[in-house]
Amino acid sequence: MLDIAGLGSKIGETIELSGWAYNFRSSGSIFFLQLRDGTARVQVVFNKADVSEESWTVLEQLGMEASVTVTGVVKSEPRAPSGIELHGISCVLIAAPAAEFPISKKEHGTDFLMDNRHLWLRSSRQEAILRVRNEIAFALREFFYHKNFVLTDSPIFTPNACESTSELFEVKYFDDVAYLTQSGQLYLEATSSALKRTYCFGPTFRSEKSKTRRHLTEFWMLEAEASFMDQIENMALQEEMVVFVVKRVLERRADDLKTLERDTAPLQKVAEGNFPRIRYTDAIKQLQDLGSDIKDGDDLGADDETVLTKQYDRPIFITHYPVAVKSFYMKPDPADPRFVLNADMLAPEGYGEVIGGSQRIDDLALLEERIKQHGLPREAFEWYLDIRRFGSVPHAGFGIGLERTVAWVCGLEHIRETIPFPRLLNRLNP
Ligand code: 4AD
Ligand code: MG
Repeated sequence: MLDIAGLGSKIGETIELSGWAYNFRSSGSIFFLQLRDGTARVQVVFNKADVSEESWTVLEQLGMEASVTVTGVVKSEPRAPSGIELHGISCVLIAAPAAEFPISKKEHGTDFLMDNRHLWLRSSRQEAILRVRNEIAFALREFFYHKNFVLTDSPIFTPNACESTSELFEVKYFDDVAYLTQSGQLYLEATSSALKRTYCFGPTFRSEKSKTRRHLTEFWMLEAEASFMDQIENMALQEEMVVFVVKRVLERRADDLKTLERDTAPLQKVAEGNFPRIRYTDAIKQLQDLGSDIKDGDDLGADDETVLTKQYDRPIFITHYPVAVKSFYMKPDPADPRFVLNADMLAPEGYGEVIGGSQRIDDLALLEERIKQHGLPREAFEWYLDIRRFGSVPHAGFGIGLERTVAWVCGLEHIRETIPFPRLLNRLNP
């Protein structure tokens, strides 16, 4: 079946299209139908004199989101956004709407739109966001494939925490309990000892009681891990990846960025690379100079990240966080073990953290000590300790949150629009 997006090469031809009526108006003997088929939108102009009585009746009785099959001649129309219009010959109804479509042109509140998310997805803006999401996910996979990383999927049911024991979703697992994964990292460390470079890309879960514009309880994360990679190389890899992804979106999703009214100048800057690397301690000083009351030793909050990123025209790496604010597996800096060999990548324009990564502890005794200090159940981590028992090597990796990346690249206010069906603190429906 023909797509509206493919009409450009059909000028002058008579074609058949199926889709949904997302808008229409009539001026007596002319009927203007706005048709969408999920690939693009086009206006079909019908003259009463040129169409059968049956078709005209279908048009006159049309409701919003009726599904139809239209036959028409493709015309070039410089005034149309796509440069194309259809001269309608016939319109056949597939299914009439059973009720009035709840989403209209008027302003709706966020709660209403979220309750009707399954229908809201049909709007041009939501379509554009999901196409950008697809492009980013595909670009990420392509990037890692060409870098010789092997996709090794991590489990979703897990026996233990990876990031923080307070943010676990517990589920019944026969006569036992399991936790929904917060991160596939620990398993990637095992697979990267088997295959050198590995990645996983799947849903992860955090029962964070955060009601913010950057938190979901279920989000997708691409995580990469490589044996013999240090933290410097880890950051270089992340930078190359982000540049690749942003360039790809600029090249292939220009129309969608336009629909979203995304200013692409800041994204062009990102494509230049050269992301600054700033030590945590310097970032704290900079924040204090900017008026923040953050204290040395504190983790950066979302507001701090926003303030900081607004000082730069491209993503920044904040490196060397204090041991106390980061996860148990991060390797202390041999030059100053109060800090870890890690980096968070903060996206510009106030978006903040999109990537968390680090070099991992490769010393068995130190890792055992950290597991104890963090109050983690030792038995559940025996297999993870085995990675250090049998040919331990320096290794590093990171995780990039897909939805935060989509929110940033699309220039969105809130993360809830970046995933078809967002799961939030107060939302599990639809
Ligand atoms: O910084 P985080 O917690 O890092 C990890 O999970 C590591 N184990 C990754 C690794 O080294 N393999 O999470 C990584 C990224 C964040 O930077 C953010 O983009 C995203 O995951 N993220 C969230 N996205 C949406 N909602 C949430 N609640 C998120 N929590 C983290
Ligand atoms: Mg983090």
